[in-house]
Amino acid sequence: MKKVLYRHLFSKVLGLSLLFFSVSFYAQEEAADASGGDVAKGKQLFNQNCAACHSLDRKMTGPALANVEARLLEDEGLDKEWLYAWIKNSPGMIKAGDAYANKIYAEYNQAAMTAFPTLSDQDINDILAYTAAPPPAPTVVATADGGSGSSGGESSGISNELILGALALVFGLLIIMLILVNRTLRRIAEANGVALEKEKAEKRVPIWKAFAQNQFLVLCTAIFLLLASGYFAYGWMMQIGVDQGYAPVQPIHYSHKIHAGDNKIECKYCHSSARVSKTSGIPSLNVCMNCHKSIYEYKGNPEGPSAEDLANGYTNEFYTGEIKKLYKAVGWDEEEQEYTGETQPVEWVRVHNLPDFAYFNHSQHVSVAGIECQTCHGPVEEMEIMEQFAPLTMGWCINCHRETNVKMEGNEYYEAIHAELSKKYGVEQLTAAMMGGLECGKCHY
Ligand code: HEC
Ligand code: HEC
Ligand code: HEC
Ligand code: HEC
Ligand code: HEC
Ligand code: HEC
Repeated sequence: MKKVLYRHLFSKVLGLSLLFFSVSFYAQEEAADASGGDVAKGKQLFNQNCAACHSLDRKMTGPALANVEARLLEDEGLDKEWLYAWIKNSPGMIKAGDAYANKIYAEYNQAAMTAFPTLSDQDINDILAYTAAPPPAPTVVATADGGSGSSGGESSGISNELILGALALVFGLLIIMLILVNRTLRRIAEANGVALEKEKAEKRVPIWKAFAQNQFLVLCTAIFLLLASGYFAYGWMMQIGVDQGYAPVQPIHYSHKIHAGDNKIECKYCHSSARVSKTSGIPSLNVCMNCHKSIYEYKGNPEGPSAEDLANGYTNEFYTGEIKKLYKAVGWDEEEQEYTGETQPVEWVRVHNLPDFAYFNHSQHVSVAGIECQTCHGPVEEMEIMEQFAPLTMGWCINCHRETNVKMEGNEYYEAIHAELSKKYGVEQLTAAMMGGLECGKCHY
C-alpha cells in the first residue's frame, strides 16, 4: 500500500499562501481608500487644474490649500458638499450670495476662480486627500519629484505595479490549480483503493526537512525566486547609465531659480550657443560679471528667507558668500573695483552627458525644431540646484521623434524636402521620424 505523507502540512502551506495573497491584495485596496481619496491621483489632478493659481503652502492667486478641507470644515463650519459645490462652480456660488464664498472672493480682490464642472466628487476627494497629505521631506535628489510631469518616471512606476500585480495573480491561480489537481489525484487514488495514511504525531519531521522532501514546494519556490530575481535584475540593468535626477553639488551654489525664475534672465543670455551650435555651453565667468560687478550682495526677499529656505540654510548671507566665491574665482577686487589678475577656474560639475557614441545637436532642436529648453530640461526656472530631468536614453529620443511634428512653415531651406516627403507619406504634418530621425546613423557616429 502506498503512503502519501505530509499531505496535511502541504495543504496547510497552500491554504496559508492563498490567504496571504488575498489579504495583501485587500490591504492594498484599503490603503488607497483610507483617507477617502487617492493621494497620487489627487496630486496629478491638482497639478493639472489647480497649480496655476494655488500652491499648498504659499498664497498665490488663490489661498494656500494645505489642509483646506480641515480648515474650512472646522474653522468655518462648512461641509463637504460646500467644497464640492465651490470647486465645481465657484462663480455660481458667489452669484447665489453664499456668505463664505463672497467673503473669500472679496478677500482675494474679486479674482475669479475657474469653474470645474467636469470634476467628479471622487476627483475632488482625491485632490483634498493630496492637500491633506504631509509634504515630502525636502532632499536634494528628491527634487526629481518636482518634475512630476516626467512621463518616464511615472509610467514606469505604473508598469512596475502592473507587473507585480500580474505576477501575484499568476501565482494565486497556480496555487488554486494545484489544489484542484491535488484533490483530483487523491480521489483517483482513493477510488483505486490506495489508502492515504494519516500521519502520526510522533512521526513529524522538522519543517525544513519536510520542505526539502516536498519536491513540489521546492519547485514552486525555485520558480518564484528565479522570476523575482530576473525581474529585479532587469530593472537594475535598465538603470545603468541613466542619471535622471542627478543633481551634483556645484563649486559655486548657482541657483537657476533665482536667475532664470525670480529675475527672469533669458536662458540664452548665458547659454548663448544653444541656438547656433551643437552644444549649449556653460557661460564664462565674464558673463556673470556683466551683472555682478554691481550686484555684490544678495538682497532677495525683503521679508527675509522663507521657512523652507531657512531649513536648507539658504539665507541672504549664504547667497552673498557665494557671490564672493565668484569674485575670488575671477579675481575681482571689490574695494578697488578692478581685476587683480589672480583667477581660479570654476570647475562646474557636468550634469547632462550623453555617451561619446551618441550625437546630439542643440541648434537642430532649439532653432530648427523650435523646442523649448524646458521640454527636455524640465522646469529649470524652479530649480535651486540643477538636475537632470529627462532620462536621456535612446528610447526617450526616439519617442519624441515619433511624436513630434517638425516645424514646416518659415523654413525655406527644407521647403522642397518637406513637400516631397509629405507627398510620399500622404500627410499634412511630418514627424521628426519621417524626416529620418530614426536612422541609426543620424545619432550614432
Ligand atoms: C484661475 C485661478 C484658480 C484656479 C485654476 C483654481 N482656483 Fe481655487 N481659488 C482661486 C481664487 C482666486 C480663490 C479665492 C476666492 C476667489 O477669489 O474666488 C480660490 C479659492 C479656493 C478655495 C477656497 C479656499 C479657502 O481657503 O477658502 C478652494 C477650496 C479652492 N480654491 C480649490 C481649488 C481647486 C481644488 C482647484 C483645482 C481643481 C482650484 N481651486 C483652481 C483661484 C483659482
Ligand atoms: C545667469 C546665467 C544663466 C542663466 C540665465 C541660465 N543658466 Fe543654465 N547654467 C548656468 C551655469 C553657471 C550652469 C552650471 C552650473 C549648474 O549646473 O548649476 C548652468 C547649467 C545648466 C544646465 C546643466 C548643464 C550640465 O552640466 O549638464 C542646463 C540644462 C541649463 N543650465 C539650462 C538652462 C535653462 C533651460 C535656462 C533658462 C530657463 C538657463 N539654464 C538659464 C548659467 C545660467
Ligand atoms: C543678467 C544679470 C546676471 C548674470 C549674467 C548673472 N547673475 Fe548672478 N545674480 C543676478 C541677480 C539679479 C541676483 C539676485 C540678487 C538679489 O536678489 O539680491 C543674482 C544672484 C547670484 C548669486 C546668489 C544667489 C545664488 O544663485 O546662489 C550667485 C551665487 C550668483 N548670482 C552667481 C552668478 C554666476 C556664477 C553667474 C555666471 C554664471 C551669474 N550669477 C550671472 C544677476 C545676474
Ligand atoms: C531636444 C531636447 C533638448 C532641448 C530642447 C534642449 N536641450 Fe540642452 N541638452 C539636451 C541633451 C540631450 C544634452 C546632453 C548633450 C550631450 O551630453 O552631448 C543637453 C545638454 C545641455 C547643457 C550642458 C552643456 C552641453 O551643451 O552639453 C546645457 C547647458 C543645456 N543643455 C542647455 C540648454 C538650453 C539653454 C536649452 C534651450 C535654449 C536647451 N538646452 C534645450 C537636450 C536638450
Ligand atoms: C522634445 C522632442 C525631441 C527630443 C527629446 C529629441 N529630439 Fe531630436 N529632433 C526633434 C525634432 C522635432 C527634430 C526635427 C527637426 C527638424 O529637422 O525640423 C529632431 C531632429 C533630430 C536630428 C536630425 C534628424 C535629421 O533627420 O536630420 C537628430 C540627429 C536628433 N534629433 C537627435 C536626437 C537625439 C540624439 C536625442 C536624444 C538625446 C533627441 N534628438 C531627442 C525632437 C526631439
Ligand atoms: C534619435 C537618436 C537615436 C537614433 C535614431 C538611434 N539611437 Fe541608439 N542611442 C541613442 C542615444 C542617445 C543612446 C545613449 C543612451 C544612453 O546613454 O542610455 C543610444 C544608445 C544605443 C546603444 C547602446 C545601448 C543603450 O541602449 O544604451 C545601441 C546599441 C544603439 N543605440 C543602437 C542603435 C541602433 C542599432 C539604431 C538604429 C536602429 C539606433 N541606435 C538609433 C540615440 C539614437
